Amino acid sequence: MSESVFTELSGYAERLIRGRHATRAFRPDPVPEDTVRAIFALAGSAPSNSNAQPWRVEVVGGARRERLANALQAAHAERRTSVDLPYSEDMYTPVHQERRAAFGAGLYGALGIGADDHAARAAYDAKSLRFYGAPHAAFLFVTGDGGARLAADVGAYMQTLLLAMAAYGVDSCPQGLLSFYADTVRDELEVAEGRLLVGVSFGYADENAPVNRVTTGRADLEATTAFHL
Ligand SMILES: Cc1cc2nc3c(=O)[nH]c(=O)nc-3n(C[C@H](O)[C@H](O)[C@H](O)COP(=O)(O)O)c2cc1C
Repeated sequence: MSESVFTELSGYAERLIRGRHATRAFRPDPVPEDTVRAIFALAGSAPSNSNAQPWRVEVVGGARRERLANALQAAHAERRTSVDLPYSEDMYTPVHQERRAAFGAGLYGALGIGADDHAARAAYDAKSLRFYGAPHAAFLFVTGDGGARLAADVGAYMQTLLLAMAAYGVDSCPQGLLSFYADTVRDELEVAEGRLLVGVSFGYADENAPVNRVTTGRADLEATTAFHL
């Protein structure tokens, strides 16, 4: 490929990668089925260890989405949580915790929820089980032993999916929260194999919602990356 093609491509990549962000308020309009299928076909080109492609993906919309949202809210009300992949607050280092706190302050600040208002934060989380109003959600399961290496492959799939969505003008929000209701998702979608890593809500952003104007920064390059060139 010529140099000018690479210049053009890197310009697109800058816009695509930096332009993607988590959307937390959606319009109800569904994404056309052809577009949904094109996005998931593109996401399937994600890399994986030995090309094993250890993902199992369930995509919902319409009546199935509505039933699942109701089941998730019922599970939440009855405190029926279940995780396939272990979670602990202890997995975070103090630096991670600082970044998480800064993110939380920005998000809940935009929602007008105070730092110590745990009830309001919990209510917001419960509401988010309806996929932030998105007309669709995708559930990413890790097949095989569900261990760290296979989960990392599904993480690579997730980012490829988010970028494919952005390229097709579709907004998204990865929701780790949905993975705390693994049994509910499995039962509702009759999924026989895999461990639930994450759900991804998607559709078209409600551009008027203040929560969609939250911006996130990133650590300085030097804080995460060393060059031994
Ligand atoms: C695996 C994963 C799980 C996430 N879980 C949630 C979630 O449960 N709820 C939510 O609102 N955002 C969730 N997010 C979105 C992150 O908060 C967001 O990606 C991060 O703050 C950076 O912001 P940006 O995506 O807008 O650049 C998740 C992101 C990832 C990658």
